[in-house]
Amino acid sequence: MSVPSPSAAVEPAGGRALVIGTGTMGQGIAQLCAVAGWQTHVFDVEPARLAAAERAIAAALGRAVDKGKLTAPAREAALAKLLGFADLEAASEGVGLVIEAVPEHMDLKVDVLARVRDRARDDALLASNTSSLSITELGRRLGAGQRTVGMHFFNPPPVMELVEVVRGLHSSTATVERACELARALGKTTIVVSDTPGFATSRLGVAIGAEAIRMVEAGVASVADIDRAMELGYRHPMGPLKLGDLVGLDVRLAILEHLHREVGEQFRPPSLLRQMVRAGWLGKKSGRGFYCWSDAGPEPTDPRRGDG
Ligand SMILES: NC(=O)c1ccc[n+]([C@@H]2O[C@H](COP(=O)([O-])OP(=O)(O)OC[C@H]3O[C@@H](n4cnc5c(N)ncnc54)[C@H](O)[C@@H]3O)[C@@H](O)[C@H]2O)c1
Repeated sequence: MSVPSPSAAVEPAGGRALVIGTGTMGQGIAQLCAVAGWQTHVFDVEPARLAAAERAIAAALGRAVDKGKLTAPAREAALAKLLGFADLEAASEGVGLVIEAVPEHMDLKVDVLARVRDRARDDALLASNTSSLSITELGRRLGAGQRTVGMHFFNPPPVMELVEVVRGLHSSTATVERACELARALGKTTIVVSDTPGFATSRLGVAIGAEAIRMVEAGVASVADIDRAMELGYRHPMGPLKLGDLVGLDVRLAILEHLHREVGEQFRPPSLLRQMVRAGWLGKKSGRGFYCWSDAGPEPTDPRRGDG
């Protein structure tokens, strides 16, 4: 887990952050904010997901203590900073940084950020963890483009070093610099990219992932061997199919559909991916994707066959 240096006294205006959506990403982002010592409000439309996230964060920080990466008092201090809310409006009061991590749909992101915009501080940063959607459109539809910015974390946020800061056409330089400063205070390294479909990381990452799925479809090699090709041949820490399972195949499909519309034919989603999402094979979170996920570890499947 990345733990910010104690000298990092940088915090959001008012010392408070709000994370909206506590699924795969929001959970990890909230953990980072709380460990940094920020008062961290968390909200999810599904109370059960919020409760599960709070339990998961407590458990993750417990493991960090066991491994000697965090002291027990620091764990307790971080957990005391984490405040779950049943009401988004109440969660927004006085926060200086909002990071939304709700599913990858523009209308949904506009809706949740519009609900917090006027309750957060006037100078609050409105940040989206979107993997591919337009920060410029989001800012315009919020009527707050100057303080809207992309803060794209990677999965799992406590471990992955990068935050891709996305500058919309309306984002002010102060907003972009502040987003970088806050990400660094969370122990991250930043890159700044302009608001183009898929930014730098998703565009390259999903191109490799989609090609790997087309190769499974075409029977070029097995799931395990396609992943091994990139792990051993190119030193990728994880093959593209296993990575897709971790990201969530529904999330991958949504990004590909967006890039297909915005960039062109090379991003047309493979039909196998559509079928798998229809089957409910979403990857690790549903227990099955290109791999079967159990406590014993991931086992490769043949996703072209139900019993494969
Ligand atoms: N999964 C990844 O690896 C990954 C990596 C980088 C960025 N992202 C981006 O992060 C965002 C979230 O992805 P995720 O994988 O965490 O999704 P997820 O489905 O795991 O979690 C989304 C959460 O948002 C909640 N939610 C839905 N509607 C809501 C609402 N109106 N108000 C509050 N909460 C609501 C859901 O209950 C759920 O808990 C997406 O924009 C995605 O593209 C995902």
